[in-house]
This record gives sequence, structure tokens and C-alpha cells, in this order.
Amino acid sequence: MRMNASTRRAVVTGAAGFIGSHLAERLVADGWQVTGVDCFTDYYPRQDKEANLASLVHEPRFDLVERDLAHDGWQQAFAGASAVFHLAAQAGVRGSFGSSFAQYARDNLVATQRVFETAADAEVPRVVWASSSSVYGDAETHPCVEATTPTRPRSPYGVTKRACEDLAHIYRSRGLAITGLRYFTVYGPRQRPDMAIRKICEALGSGATFPQLGDGFQSRDFTFVTDAVDATLRAGTVDDPAPVYNIGGGDEATLARVISTLEGLAGTRLTLDRRPAQRGDVRRTSADVGLARRTLGWTPVVSLPDGLAAELAWVRGRTPTAGVVVA
Ligand SMILES: NC(=O)c1ccc[n+]([C@@H]2O[C@H](COP(=O)([O-])OP(=O)(O)OC[C@H]3O[C@@H](n4cnc5c(N)ncnc54)[C@H](O)[C@@H]3O)[C@@H](O)[C@H]2O)c1
Repeated sequence: MRMNASTRRAVVTGAAGFIGSHLAERLVADGWQVTGVDCFTDYYPRQDKEANLASLVHEPRFDLVERDLAHDGWQQAFAGASAVFHLAAQAGVRGSFGSSFAQYARDNLVATQRVFETAADAEVPRVVWASSSSVYGDAETHPCVEATTPTRPRSPYGVTKRACEDLAHIYRSRGLAITGLRYFTVYGPRQRPDMAIRKICEALGSGATFPQLGDGFQSRDFTFVTDAVDATLRAGTVDDPAPVYNIGGGDEATLARVISTLEGLAGTRLTLDRRPAQRGDVRRTSADVGLARRTLGWTPVVSLPDGLAAELAWVRGRTPTAGVVVA
């Protein structure tokens, strides 16, 4: 049975991040009471994350708990929640090698186990959490299908998401209604500064050189952020969702095509610094979203050119933040 919108309260972890802030806005717009949990990790500037929350901070149906999920002090927020949307994580494939893996293990594995445990204890009726297309690694067949494509991550980041899927399976068998979403390269306004489309948009604006990693013919199934949010909300509200879903925008494109589309929109050429592909990068991602279509009633609606235009307009309209931008 669908819950009544007027009585619903959601917790969104990672609410100050790229996807989490869009999700929190959508939930509030749909009538939910929303508690965000975020500790403003320093992966990218706090100022950017505060800007992500700008439209929510004065909203009476939104409150923020600034806490680290790997520590205590946030668990009370789960009491009485109709749904928990767990998006907090240390994202990014390339940075997950080397000594920074400790951060991934902490923010992804340790934090996620605590979120699942707390949700189970609080008897939260629905948990939706962010997995990743990275669990597939370099799939041998395309598009990837949840039930039949093996998960063979190629990065330590992908390993943490794969392990979280195993954790989710354990808590699901303990009775927690939990659904993981394998997001495929999400883009749009507020995209993280380490992601390629954001960097290309910024380079087109500033005239800076864009470091192209790989030959440009690697492809991704790009997903516009409002489409990803719509799928997430549906997973939080439909009856009996599947344990895991592919969430891909349906318009697989090479990096070269993304660059030429953005060049056309910007009316200027990008200066490339061609570099080898990086460890952890996969050649191709593509999602079979038949399961999401059938059981969530979800269809991505934003085309790649429209989505790229929206991100470019956002980048042009924002004031650049001084601070660390992760390579
Ligand atoms: N953006 C994508 O293309 C993409 C693709 C696949 C999966 N995902 C997953 O979706 C989720 C959201 O990604 P995003 O791109 O919005 O990332 P993001 O970095 O913008 O947002 C993540 C947020 O989580 C917070 N956070 C991290 N560790 C925390 C902790 N221990 N306690 C509290 N808060 C913590 C960060 O401060 C940040 O605000 C992540 O789980 C990511 O792995 C994203």
C-alpha cells in the first residue's frame, strides 16, 4: 500500500552531495518531511555542498543533522522514518587505489553497515541505497542485466559497492525491505567536480586544457540527475521493489561525443591534453533498465543533449569555488 504523502518522513544520507541534494529537494517538493545527514567530507569544498543545500536550508520541512555515519549521534533521526535513502559514500573510481582506500572502506562499508543495522533496529519500512554500475567492471556482454551479468569490479571503489550489496542481502534476509540502485554515471547541475562532464564544462568556460584520460572512445550510459532521483523515489514508494536495479539514462555515448556536443552548445573548441586511461576505468557501461521500467514504472526522460545543456548552463552561472578539485 502506498503511504500517504502528508505523513511521510524521509532520511537522506549524503543530502549535501550532488544526487542527495536533488533527491532531498524532490522529496520536499512532493510533501515529505526530510532529515538530511551529511558530514561534509573534504573530497570537494564544503562551500559547494552548502550551495547544494541553498534552497533547502530555509525550508521548514527540511532539517540537517551534521554527523559522520561512521560515528554516533545520528541514529535517532531514523526513528519513525517512512524511508531511508542512503546516498552518503566516498565516490570516485580512480581515487580508491592506494592509501585512500581506507577512506572508502570507512565511508562506504563501515558507514553502510551502520545505516543498515540502525534501519533494521528502528524497523524503517523501506531503505533505498546507492550502489553503482562500477560493480560490473568490464562486462563481457552488453547491456548489463541485474540477474545475469556477473559483478566483477575493477576498482577498489567498485569492490566496496559490491560488498555493500552483500551486506544489503544479509539485512534483507533479516527482514529489512532494502533496495540498491546501480546508478550509471549521473550528471547534471551540481555534478561533483571530479567528474568528466563538469570538468569539460569548466574548461570550455575558462579556456583551460581538459585532461582526456583514454582515447575518447570509452562510453558511458549517462543518466541525468532528475531521472536518477525519480527512480530513487519510486524505489522508495512502490510495493515490493526488487533487491537491485540498474538505473541508466539509456543514451550510451562516447566521451568524444560528449565533448563534441558540449563544444557545439558552448560555441567553442576544447583544448585536449591526451593521457592514458587510468587504472579502474572501464571501456564501456550500458544498462538494461527493463526491470526498473516494469516494476518501478520508471523511464528516463532527459536526453543527453538536453542534460548536457542544463549542466553547461549551471556551470556558467555559478561562482567557482577556491579549493581542492580532485584529479
Ligand atoms: N554520481 C554518480 O555518477 C554516481 C554513480 C554511481 C553511484 N553513485 C553513488 O551515489 C551516491 C551519491 O553520489 P554523489 O555523486 O552525489 O556524491 P557526493 O560526493 O556529491 O555526495 C556524497 C555525500 O556523502 C557525504 N558523506 C560521505 N561519507 C559520509 C559519512 N561517513 N557520513 C556522512 N556523510 C558522508 C559527503 O559529504 C557528500 O556530501 C554515492 O553513494 C555514490 O557512490 C554516484
